[in-house]
Amino acid sequence: MQQITKVKALRSCVRDWHQQGQSVALVPTMGNLHVGHLQLVKQAKKLANKVVVSIFVNPTQFVAGEDFDTYPRTIKDDVAHLGDIEPDLIFIPEIDEVYPAGLEGETQVIVPELDSIFCGAFRPGHFTGVATVVSKLLNMVQPDIALFGNKDYQQLLVIKRLVKDLCIPVEIVGVETVREESGLALSSRNRYLNQQEKMVAAELHQALSGIAEAVKAGVDDYQQLEANAVKHLEKKGFKIEYLSIRNASNLGEPTEEELVVLAAAWLGKARLIDNIQIKRCREGNFPP
Ligand code: PAF
Repeated sequence: MQQITKVKALRSCVRDWHQQGQSVALVPTMGNLHVGHLQLVKQAKKLANKVVVSIFVNPTQFVAGEDFDTYPRTIKDDVAHLGDIEPDLIFIPEIDEVYPAGLEGETQVIVPELDSIFCGAFRPGHFTGVATVVSKLLNMVQPDIALFGNKDYQQLLVIKRLVKDLCIPVEIVGVETVREESGLALSSRNRYLNQQEKMVAAELHQALSGIAEAVKAGVDDYQQLEANAVKHLEKKGFKIEYLSIRNASNLGEPTEEELVVLAAAWLGKARLIDNIQIKRCREGNFPP
């Protein structure tokens, strides 16, 4: 398991692998790895011959006032966790390796529309930071596939869109969300929850699951479902940013068969996001 900090050395290693006919997967992370990240790496190992994990806390995706300075940098622990799964290479660049011209005035990747709704509306500029750094990482590593968690569903769609629009030759794979037994989606930011809040936090997943079940059972008053869930969660102490049933493919108004119910909410100091994908059945064709 090599550790590399420079793009030049990274490229040379990946070029050798490709010349040997090996396929390469990239798992981009910001470190502070948890079981959800390790699941991505395990999945990557099934899908490609060689696996690169990047660890880079990307400053441009943090909005003013967010936790960039205090975001946990736990490289030693991260490397130890990865040691159990053994990806082939860990890429740990410094900021000036990723942003050689500095953070201001550099070329940016903007994904219109998708970047300004839901999380994008509450974190203006966040998805431009994500799209820019992911484009850079894809260009640096040049993997055949790249894996991302389904938990950040809007991020996954942003990345799929940029890859398509910029003709980047990589397959983007979304990997199922890993949850605690309570249903709470694993996230680095769960550490901001105290014990009591952690128990309440599971209600978010339960509310989304309830909506998913209702939609699958044929309930079609989506606004009512959303409003009921918001009311219930607010009573439990959540501050809801959004909770919405949308098309899974583009987050547009729910007209398609495949939907997603997605939400962001604050509980204490933690901003939680979660989603569930729903396959709506055609009339008279109920799922098993
Ligand atoms: O999901 C994350 O951890 C980050 O947004 C990513 C994709 C690694 C880009 O910095």
